[in-house]
Amino acid sequence: MGPVSRAPTAIEWDVREMEKGGYEHFMLKEIHEQPQALANALRGRLLENEGATKLSGLQIEPREIAAIDRIVIAACGTSYYAGMLGRYFFEDFAYVPVEVQQAAEFRYRNPIIQANTCMIAISQSGETADTLAAVREGIRKGAMVLGVCNVVGSTIAREAGRGVYLHAGPEVGVASTKAFACQVAVLAMMAVAFGRTRRLTATDGQRLVRAIARLPDLAAQTLAQEDAIRAIARKHAKATDFFYIGRGHAYPAALEGALKLKEIAYVHAEGCHAAELKHGPIALLDAAVPVIVAAPDSPEKAKTIANMQECRARKAPVVAIATAGDAEVSDCADDVITIPACPDFLAPVPIVIAEQLFAYHSARLRGCEIDQPRNLAKSVTVE
Ligand code: M6R
Repeated sequence: MGPVSRAPTAIEWDVREMEKGGYEHFMLKEIHEQPQALANALRGRLLENEGATKLSGLQIEPREIAAIDRIVIAACGTSYYAGMLGRYFFEDFAYVPVEVQQAAEFRYRNPIIQANTCMIAISQSGETADTLAAVREGIRKGAMVLGVCNVVGSTIAREAGRGVYLHAGPEVGVASTKAFACQVAVLAMMAVAFGRTRRLTATDGQRLVRAIARLPDLAAQTLAQEDAIRAIARKHAKATDFFYIGRGHAYPAALEGALKLKEIAYVHAEGCHAAELKHGPIALLDAAVPVIVAAPDSPEKAKTIANMQECRARKAPVVAIATAGDAEVSDCADDVITIPACPDFLAPVPIVIAEQLFAYHSARLRGCEIDQPRNLAKSVTVE
C-alpha cells in the first residue's frame, strides 16, 4: 500500500482543558464545566427571531427533512440514555416515529431501514465499536446517517459524513458528564430543526428556542446545590443498593443516575421506570435501600409522588430531585435536592447534573478511583 495523504483537521481544544485546573479530579472539573460546555454547544445555533435552529453540519435540505418517515437512534451507555430523550424530542417536536436501539444489537437484528429512514448515531468519543458498526450497517442499508459526536474528526463523525458536533470540549474522566448535557442540547436543537420543517409554527419554535437557551443557567443553578448534595451522599455512604426511578423525561435521567453511581462509586444501583417498581423490584425495598426519585414539575408528577409514598411505606429512604419550592414533592421525601424550574423536556439536564454530583461525592467518600474506575475504559473500541 502506498502513502496515504489526508487533509489536516484543526482541533479547537485548548491544551489547558486537558489539565485538572485546581480540581481534585477530571470528573469534578467536567461536571463544573457544564454551564460553559452548554454555552459552547448552543453558540450561534439558536435563531430566536425565527424560532429555529441552525446546525450547518447537518447539511440537509428542508425537502429531505420533510421526506423522513422514521428515525432510528443507535448508541451505547450514557449516549443511549441521551438517545432516549432524543426520541421524545423528535416525536414531540417533529412528529416522526423514533426507535432507540442499543448499538450492540443493531447489526445483528437485520434492522429495517427504508428509503426515508434517518439514522442518528450518538457517541461522545466517536470511536465506540458497536456504534461504529451500527453506522456502517446503516450506511450499507441505505439510511441517511447523521453523527452526534464530541470528538472532531473521530471515526463515526467521518464515516457518517454529516451530523452535529457537541463542542463540549475534551472529556477526560471515564464517567461521561458534560457530554450528556451537550448531547441533550444538540438533540433538542436537531428536533427543533426537524420540527420547524414538519409541524412547529414560528411561535412554537420561539418558545422552544428560548427554553433551550436557558440550559447553561439551569446547569449553573444546579451546581450551586453541591454542598447539600454532598451532605446527602454522606448520609447514605454505607448503603450498598440504590434504586433510581422516574417517569416521562425523568425516566432516562433515572437510568443515567444509576449508571453514574455504579461506575464511579461501585455501588449497586438499579434504574427503573417509577411505574415498573410495583411489577417486581419493589420486593427489594427496605430501610437499607435508598430510592433516588427524579420528580421535576411535569404532567407525571402526581403519579411519581404516589410511587414515593409506596417506597416510604416499605421504609426505604427517599431522596427526591425536585423543582425548587415544590412542597408537594418535598413533603413525601426524606431529603430533597432542588433543581431550578424549567420545562419538563429540559429537566433531565439539571437532574443528571445533581446525580453526577451525588455519584462523585459518594465515590469520594468511599475512597474510589474516580477518574479511572476499575474495569472501564473511556472508549470501548472492542465488541
Ligand atoms: O463515547 P461513547 O459516547 O460512544 O461511549 C458510550 C459509552 O461507552 C459511555 O457513555 C459509557 O457508558 C460511559 N462510561 C458512561 O459514563
